[in-house]
Amino acid sequence: MLVSAKEMLDKAKAGHYAVGHFNINNLEWTKSILSVAQEMNSPVILGVSEGAGKYMTGYKTVAAMVKAMLEEMGITVPVALHLDHGSYEGCKKCIEAGFSSIMFDGSHFSIEENIEKTKELVALAHANGMSLEAEVGSIGGEEDGVVGAGEFADPNECKMIADLGVDFLAAGIGNIHGKYPANWPGLNFDVLAKVQEKTGNLPLVLHGGTGIPADMIQKAINLGVSKINVNTECQLAFADATRKYIEAGKDLEGKGFDPRKLLAPGAEAIKATVREKIELFGSANKA
Ligand code: 13P
Repeated sequence: MLVSAKEMLDKAKAGHYAVGHFNINNLEWTKSILSVAQEMNSPVILGVSEGAGKYMTGYKTVAAMVKAMLEEMGITVPVALHLDHGSYEGCKKCIEAGFSSIMFDGSHFSIEENIEKTKELVALAHANGMSLEAEVGSIGGEEDGVVGAGEFADPNECKMIADLGVDFLAAGIGNIHGKYPANWPGLNFDVLAKVQEKTGNLPLVLHGGTGIPADMIQKAINLGVSKINVNTECQLAFADATRKYIEAGKDLEGKGFDPRKLLAPGAEAIKATVREKIELFGSANKA
């Protein structure tokens, strides 16, 4: 059964570890992530961008697929199905479609408009037993058409949004979607410490989890980060393993063209990435 992400993240915050949010694109992605979470006895959050939702033909398809997979695969660890960087309309659709968690990304609105829309969606989400993530300060780079300049979050604005009863908060601290450029100055821990000071026990979310060095991840967790989003790293691992399989001519040997064989190395590569992240985030055996 899908659960809201509130309880797992409150526990993570209190226990000083983070739960991984891994973006999904299709059945193989979902299967790989769920099987590793179960094997490691870890809670997990399946993130769905609006682009990925569209690719999978719509949020209803995604919710139905994930719910059926939990049952058919015998998954017993807590799993949340979460809209990633949702628009106002996207959030409403996911509430209807049976997701268990939503992110409303109002960071590109004025703070007044962000507050107004977040407040309305918090009430709707909670009335449906779902958790809500809000955002202040934007995440740099681009993810599925959502572009952010990478402004640092204003801690006072974080407090204003936290006071609306959101369940967890993404605050821009110099994090970027996609690969980090060679001249990236790193996460801004001063901003993170100030946000944490203003928001108390509220679990904080670190987007752009791909390529952040382990010591920075640890420091971010120590400063209140309880959810870490990873997308690009699974895509790179999948693409790399698939390229190797094809370049080695394996698809031309016997029935190597069978999609279940062709996609297997990529699916295994996603599993290895998720395993490594769950280890690093400290959520193994916390289900
Ligand atoms: P990466 O693609 O950099 O891993 O970021 C994922 C993310 O933040 C999803 O919202």
